[in-house]
Amino acid sequence: MLRLQRTLAASKRAYHDLATLPGSRPVVSSGPPGYSAVSGHRVTVFGCTGFLGRYLVSKLGKMGTQVIVPYREEDEARIFKPMGDLGQIVRMEWDIRDENMIAECLRHSDTVYNLVGRDYETKNFDFRSTNAVGPGRIAKIAAECGVSQFIQVSHLDASKTSPSKFYQAKAEGEELVKEAFPTATIVRPGPLFGYEDKLLTNIAVWPIWWQLNNGETKIRPVHVLDVAQALANLLASPQYSRTLNLPGPSTLTYEYLLELVSSVTLNPPSRAPVLPKAVALALSKVAQSVWWPALSPDEVTRRYINDSDAPGDWDAVGVQPAEIESHALTYLRRYRSAENFVRPTVFPARPAVVSPLTRIC
Ligand SMILES: NC(=O)c1ccc[n+]([C@@H]2O[C@H](COP(=O)([O-])OP(=O)(O)OC[C@H]3O[C@@H](n4cnc5c(N)ncnc54)[C@H](OP(=O)(O)O)[C@@H]3O)[C@@H](O)[C@H]2O)c1
Repeated sequence: MLRLQRTLAASKRAYHDLATLPGSRPVVSSGPPGYSAVSGHRVTVFGCTGFLGRYLVSKLGKMGTQVIVPYREEDEARIFKPMGDLGQIVRMEWDIRDENMIAECLRHSDTVYNLVGRDYETKNFDFRSTNAVGPGRIAKIAAECGVSQFIQVSHLDASKTSPSKFYQAKAEGEELVKEAFPTATIVRPGPLFGYEDKLLTNIAVWPIWWQLNNGETKIRPVHVLDVAQALANLLASPQYSRTLNLPGPSTLTYEYLLELVSSVTLNPPSRAPVLPKAVALALSKVAQSVWWPALSPDEVTRRYINDSDAPGDWDAVGVQPAEIESHALTYLRRYRSAENFVRPTVFPARPAVVSPLTRIC
């Protein structure tokens, strides 16, 4: 009976199953909704192996979209295998400096997401090459190959006048993408939290680095799954030539986040002294001698920059962003001791929201 229903549903077609993208490329969806559906879209997600990228690919796969997942390290790409039906997830090796490889990855796609970004420099890639020049190159090749939709993931605080080189590079990346692909959509999420984040988990392990600026820096954290859903929704309702800000629903302070983490992990708050900025910068320079990513001087600079107060464009992407308290326990419970594991959580009182935001440097 179920099979019969499915066959009948699959054979029905409606006007909303056909979408025509710029360049007159038709996209036809078919089948019942879910893992085995066919959304008709073919999508490339550069930067898919990162924190946000993995959630986005999972959501796209669930919608029945064929996703091309470019990877640098084979082990990082294994996670994608069960995220779509057979043949729906296509893994391809790539190098951001190789134009032919980029073209191979995107030439069959109607939509390209670029999530490539790094908030620290490495021996081979500085801020500009990863966050500006690379995205510009991908956008140029996408335009040449006739891709219909380009979605560039930037940062809420991207600004050419920012004291942070990372935020400057993100702003330059937006410009280069727009130059090469004028109808591109720029998405600017706030700081992300989730299982593999560098926010809640980092505060739980290294509170001292979040006490900088006396914890007064303002932050608008947003749930990674909300941003992934917003990006996935852009397939169904594209927002051409728009810049979409996706900050979290509340403006908080680092001080509040430190208290929140302590209230959830039930570990006492850090008693370490607040480091002066000059000392933190000097220590971060010394930390650059290790071969794993450690707190960089640019990150110290960013810890003194308030998040932009730009209003959120959540209505345009059809998502209601969640408050950090509704997910904090899920992501932080692993830092509790065994005897505290099932204890109830009492959240600290919310600070009065300070607005409009001002930059502290
Ligand atoms: N996380 C946040 O709080 C946050 C907030 C706002 C905006 N964003 C932006 O959102 C995007 C995704 O963030 P995320 O947290 O998922 O970042 P992430 O975990 O660091 O992942 C970054 C992705 O970019 C790729 N990548 C980095 N450098 C590359 C290079 N030189 N060549 C090729 N690929 C490179 C990485 O590939 P490998 O796996 O091969 O290294 C990875 O797939 C980024 O553009 C980021 O700037 C993040």
